[in-house]
Amino acid sequence: MNEEQRLQNSQVKPLQKPEKDYSQYFQSVYVQPSLKDAKKRGKEEITYHKDFVIDPVLLGMGKGRKFFIRTFGCQMNEHDTEVMAGIFLQLGYTPTENVQEANVILLNTCAIRENAENKVFGELGHYKKLKRDNPDVLIGVCGCMSQEESVVKKILKTYNQVDMIFGTHNIHRLPQLLNEAYLSKEMVIEVWSKEGDVIESLPKVRRGEIKAWVNIMYGCDKFCTYCIVPYTRGKERSRRPEDIIQEVRQLAAQGYKEVTLLGQNVNAYGKDFEDLSYRLGDLMEALRQIDIPRIRFTTSHPRDFDDHLIEVLAKRGNLVEHIHLPVQSGSTSMLKLMARKYSREQYMDLVRKIKEALPDAALTTDIIVGFPNETDEQFEETMSLYREVGFEHAFTYIYSPREGTPAAKMEDNVPLEVKKERLQRLNNLVNEFSAATMQNYQDQLVEVLVEGESRKNPEVLAGYTRTNKLVNFAGSTDLAGKLAIVKITKTKTWSLEGELIEVLSGQEVGVL
Ligand code: 5AD
Ligand code: SF4
Repeated sequence: MNEEQRLQNSQVKPLQKPEKDYSQYFQSVYVQPSLKDAKKRGKEEITYHKDFVIDPVLLGMGKGRKFFIRTFGCQMNEHDTEVMAGIFLQLGYTPTENVQEANVILLNTCAIRENAENKVFGELGHYKKLKRDNPDVLIGVCGCMSQEESVVKKILKTYNQVDMIFGTHNIHRLPQLLNEAYLSKEMVIEVWSKEGDVIESLPKVRRGEIKAWVNIMYGCDKFCTYCIVPYTRGKERSRRPEDIIQEVRQLAAQGYKEVTLLGQNVNAYGKDFEDLSYRLGDLMEALRQIDIPRIRFTTSHPRDFDDHLIEVLAKRGNLVEHIHLPVQSGSTSMLKLMARKYSREQYMDLVRKIKEALPDAALTTDIIVGFPNETDEQFEETMSLYREVGFEHAFTYIYSPREGTPAAKMEDNVPLEVKKERLQRLNNLVNEFSAATMQNYQDQLVEVLVEGESRKNPEVLAGYTRTNKLVNFAGSTDLAGKLAIVKITKTKTWSLEGELIEVLSGQEVGVL
């Protein structure tokens, strides 16, 4: 990397109001990711930019043009897509669901496991013909994969149908990057590997009108040894409470019924404030006061889950009793190798505290099988922990080495057959517990937030309980966006069926 690129990489210029001289928008954009920089965690203060504006000279760029974004991976990516869609609309583009008629195609990618990456490379392969037939179409790659040096190198070498690559810290630069891509014959690459700032006031086009995502923090400093996220998403940066509260208030005023607070490690919320002692419990207490029926949060790290948060969650109201608490393994020695910074016993203590405060809380988790050196006995500890906690559901994964992470240097010594067998056994247990959990709902009354017609069967409505269980029942589509009391008449492994008892007014939230 030359001196100029390094400078650009390490310093983010504060966003400025448009200047008269637009020459800055016509410079060549070429900053590749750097794993070395992405590993750094410095003491630099986080800068909050509240003055995002699109340069007037770029505003008409999308007139007569259509955009298509395909999103892979987690809710954070889904939400980033909402922001990029907001920027496209401000630029005058219109959305399309049909990739064939798009003028700009973006792949918002996920790097968490190898198979997530393979899906993206497969999709890019399909676009070769599309680009040949229509050379004017712009194809872009963004999201977590673009933060990886090896991915950028591979795209440069083999996927010359790609016109632009930009990183997770460069989303607000989309207007300039598009402009550059239209003008340039070269592939436009702008991936900052810096620690990151917080950019407020970006436009958003939310996908639904009932449920909304709200970022509360960005990045992760946990550096679990298997995980690429701390490198692709930068250091932990919390949004200021007043900005979050304002956003949730606005969503409530717009008629949204549910907000999910997002962060890679939401329990670290506020740790980075230097002028303020304010953590997730305080934020949840403030959000409890807002007249919106449901607030959720994801994802939690057990290490930072504090007593104050449990106390606040126990007050319920609009704070739902569902906690996703990734454990990853039930073996203390595996947890140590994974650098999770808690033992099996500490995890179980936390579960006990949560269950004492919220006996009916639905606990769900994430588990990795086949981490380097995992023995049959250690895997059995995961199985026994699962039973002991009685999780209602789990996302289960085979360990996938990620280049640049500490675990990738360990020998990946559990044979694939063994990994698959462990996954199968674990999944059987997960299914068994899910079915048993569902059976407990038989003949119970539950509060359902109705989302509309079921996608699988338009004859019935679909909605979710506070514990995030899918419920189908007969009723009028006018109920979409309403809360209803439903009596459960039949239970399945993954969903419940019931009959409508009563439609609630906003005031009765959390009465059951
Ligand atoms: N291999 C397999 N699973 C992983 N996860 C994160 N990194 C990896 C990896 N390298 C899983 C963890 C995490 C979830 C989002 O993805 O279980 O909680
Ligand atoms: Fe990855 Fe989550 Fe660990 Fe952060 S806390 S490193 S996002 S698994």
